[in-house]
Amino acid sequence: MSFFMFLVFLLVPLVAESMTPPGLNDDVLGLIVFKADLLDPHSKLSSWNEDDEDPCSWAGVECDPKSNRVAELSLSSFSLSGKIGRGLLQLRFLSSLSLSNNNFSGTLLTDLVRLESLRNLDLSGNSLSGPIPKEFFSQCRSIRSISLASNTFTGEIPSSVGSCSTLAALNLSSNRLSGSLPAEIWSLNALRSLDLSGNALVGEVPVGMSKMYNLRTISLRWNQLSGPLPEDIGDSLLLESIDFSVNSLTGSLLDSMQNLSLCSFLSLSWNSFSGEVPSWIGGLKSLQTLDLSGNEFSGQLPDSLGNLQYLKELKVSRNSLNGSLPDSVATIKSLVDVDFSRNKLTGNIPSWIFEPGFVSVTLSENKLSGPVQIPTTTAPTLQILDLSGNALSGNIPMEISGINSLQSLNLSSNSFSGAFPVSIGDLKSLQLLDLSGNRLNGSIPLEIGEAVSLRELNLERNSMTGGIPAQIGNCSLLTSLDLSENSFTGQIPSTIADLTNLRIVDLSVNHLTGSLPKPLSNLPHLLSFNISHNHLSGALPSGNFFNTISPSSISDNPGLCGAAVNLSCPSVLPKPIVMDPISSSPISSSSSVLPSASHKKIILSISALVAIAAAIIITVGVITITILNLRVRASAAAAATSRSPAALEFSGSYLSQSPTTDANSGKLVMFSGDGSEYFNAGTHALLNKDCELGRGGFGAVYKTSLRDGRPMAIKKLTISSLVKSLEDFEREVKKLGKISHPNLVSLQGYYWTPSLQLLIYEFVSGGSLHKHLHDSSSPLTWQERFDILVGTARSLAHLHQLDIIHYNMKSSNVLIDGFGEAKVTDYGLARLLPMLDRYVLSSKMQSALGYMAPEFGCGSGRVTEKCDVYGFGVLVLEVITGRRPVEYMDDDVVVLCDVVRGALEEGRVEEVVDGRLCGRFPVEEAIPVVKLGLICTSQVPSNRPDMGEVVNILDLIRCPRDSTEDELV
Ligand SMILES: *[C@@H]1O[C@H](CO)[C@@H](O)[C@H](O)[C@H]1NC(C)=O
Ligand SMILES: *[C@@H]1O[C@H](CO)[C@@H](O)[C@H](O)[C@H]1NC(C)=O
Ligand SMILES: *[C@@H]1O[C@H](CO)[C@@H](O)[C@H](O)[C@H]1NC(C)=O
Repeated sequence: MSFFMFLVFLLVPLVAESMTPPGLNDDVLGLIVFKADLLDPHSKLSSWNEDDEDPCSWAGVECDPKSNRVAELSLSSFSLSGKIGRGLLQLRFLSSLSLSNNNFSGTLLTDLVRLESLRNLDLSGNSLSGPIPKEFFSQCRSIRSISLASNTFTGEIPSSVGSCSTLAALNLSSNRLSGSLPAEIWSLNALRSLDLSGNALVGEVPVGMSKMYNLRTISLRWNQLSGPLPEDIGDSLLLESIDFSVNSLTGSLLDSMQNLSLCSFLSLSWNSFSGEVPSWIGGLKSLQTLDLSGNEFSGQLPDSLGNLQYLKELKVSRNSLNGSLPDSVATIKSLVDVDFSRNKLTGNIPSWIFEPGFVSVTLSENKLSGPVQIPTTTAPTLQILDLSGNALSGNIPMEISGINSLQSLNLSSNSFSGAFPVSIGDLKSLQLLDLSGNRLNGSIPLEIGEAVSLRELNLERNSMTGGIPAQIGNCSLLTSLDLSENSFTGQIPSTIADLTNLRIVDLSVNHLTGSLPKPLSNLPHLLSFNISHNHLSGALPSGNFFNTISPSSISDNPGLCGAAVNLSCPSVLPKPIVMDPISSSPISSSSSVLPSASHKKIILSISALVAIAAAIIITVGVITITILNLRVRASAAAAATSRSPAALEFSGSYLSQSPTTDANSGKLVMFSGDGSEYFNAGTHALLNKDCELGRGGFGAVYKTSLRDGRPMAIKKLTISSLVKSLEDFEREVKKLGKISHPNLVSLQGYYWTPSLQLLIYEFVSGGSLHKHLHDSSSPLTWQERFDILVGTARSLAHLHQLDIIHYNMKSSNVLIDGFGEAKVTDYGLARLLPMLDRYVLSSKMQSALGYMAPEFGCGSGRVTEKCDVYGFGVLVLEVITGRRPVEYMDDDVVVLCDVVRGALEEGRVEEVVDGRLCGRFPVEEAIPVVKLGLICTSQVPSNRPDMGEVVNILDLIRCPRDSTEDELV
């Protein structure tokens, strides 16, 4: 072998034109040399043995029976690669060579066409590259068919192509040929088939086709040709198939084309042809396919279309055709596929589309109107019916179930009304059902489960109601389910988790409730699962897709929790708490004096009035005390500093001595570091009226800033004469200064003189809850309100844990920081007062009217943390309703608790929720929150939950935003 190969390689340059070695057949030598040049990974050519007398039995080789010489070499799909070697040039009797669908590379072996006997050359489907040399065509002898299709040849089609006059078929499709189409190509008047599709040819199609009197098939599809059709195309009278689609050709259909009576395939789609579709088109009697889609044809379709009795495919989509669908089309019995979509067609849906024979009917995106009538006797052949994007109305006809061959039914974006057709279950072959964007109402019938072939169900943007039937779990092939933007209610059925092919699920913008079935996380192919804008609650499934679900897919389901929403689910349920203030009203259950609800209401009002009256009396007293107080303090201050309190400054002398206990100066203590670092001594008007932030029961609050610019809030206690000794004051203030909680305004320091006490707080920028609720043009959202209630509840729970009672719970003492977080202030200040004065204090809070626990107001009960719970309950009702705890009407006093309790008893809770929310709140949250507020305002303190329980209840109603906040309480 090795000696033989050595010999062959020596001989190759010689053998081409010279004699063969003795005993060695030309053909064997040529093929062995050819084989030596290529790679044969699958040993397809193992039968090629140089020791054979002749190669006629070798794989892919056929010999002429008379001469016993190789006539045909057909190595199609042999997985061969490498160069096409010159050994082939030895096969002098070769008439047909096919090397198609291999992996041959390199440039074209030009001399192949010089093989005298070669008639058919097929090199398609390889990786040949480079330009087609002009000699390739100029040297050709009597070749009849050349295919270089599906390679990567570049450059222009050489004009020498015209010299290959014997060519009957030329296929250069799917290469990268560029430049223009040489006019010489029309010299090939033996040509029957020309395929130049899938290249990058530019310019016009040259005139000269009148000589192409053998041409049957021409495809120039998918180039960049422009200009009009060649005017003499109609002279190629034998043309059967014309494909000029996907170019940039312009102009109208040429009249000369009406002589192409043998033409069965005409596609001019995706060009820029314009004008009307001429009525002579009906003369092209052989047409089976007419595709004019994607052009600029206008006007009406001609009635003559009805003469095309062999027409199977009629496609005119994406033009500007108007008028109605031609009735004459009804006479074409051969039609299988019609596409009139995206025109401006008007009128009704003609009944002929339901005639037997049709497989696909697409009339989408026109202006068709009226109801759809389906004849009762339809022969079921129709598989695709697309009437979407029209103005069709009326019910979806029941007779649709008669077309049980349907695979795709698209009626979307019309004005269909009425119920979802129950008979859909009869459509056992239906794969796509799109009824979206209509006015359908009613519910999804249980029969949906009988549509067992369904892969895609789109019902979005309708007005459908009811639940998602569990039977949908029978549609086991379902990959896409879109029920969004309806009014579906109830739970997501667990059977959805059986639909293992599901990829896309959209249930957003409905009223779905309950929790998500856990097994959903087992769906292996899920790509998208949108449940946003529902009332779903509980834990999100975890694992697989749900670990990376996008936040927007689950947004606006305030009850959802889990890692994906960054909300921890409550792991242990708190002990059950009775949530219904009506059934277990503390009054009706604990007081036999109040036997019925209506009595209770009246008596409540009376008790409230008594409280108000008492409060007013006390208030008058307090005001008197305050005025006296102010006078005393003013004169004392004037004597001590000769300055009015409202313009008091921290002077350098005060600060330089701090901390001291000099009775005539003052003592400034900051809990972190020396006060002198903090304040711009002597220059800053500290308690300037202009800087006043507000006034509360304990005094006015001013804004100032530290030397580094950091803002601070300074509270000037107006109860100075009631304050304890410095020692007591300091002990209590330092205790308050140690409290740190994200929902409490932190106390940073204090300033003390016998006549003036200041408390220095962190500054909270957002203003008070009271302002946001009652004096703001931009109402708080439900979410913000809920967050504020949770934050407030946590702060109170924290204080109560430290045995500190707030004493003064009200909306003006809840500040909102820049992040919308609630920060409770003014806590624990009653501790600064001697015990005796606390009663005076309690009544001092005129702005707190309505927040005061009944036992507090009457002065009879013991002050406990349950007073704060009462105040919190009132705050809850205030936040939910946006109304003040007590409102003064003309001759009436309205107490909020009574109003809300009455609404709850009458089942009108939703009506009392703040109208400025415009209904954008989840009822499932609003009702329990209202009930919680009413429980907290129970008349009997022991019936009120403690704040820890309140936090748990709020967490149950809606999960906390941040799991770490749990630990801070
Ligand atoms: C085709 O041949 C090239 C080398 O010419 C080689 O890299 C490639 O893997 C081959 N492809 C196939 C499908 O055999
Ligand atoms: C040209 O060749 C391609 C690829 O082999 C083939 O798909 C196409 O049908 C051929 N064209 C004609 C007109 O035979
Ligand atoms: C159609 O062909 C006939 C001859 O076969 C010719 O006389 C006539 O002009 C042609 N019509 C058009 C429109 O080219």
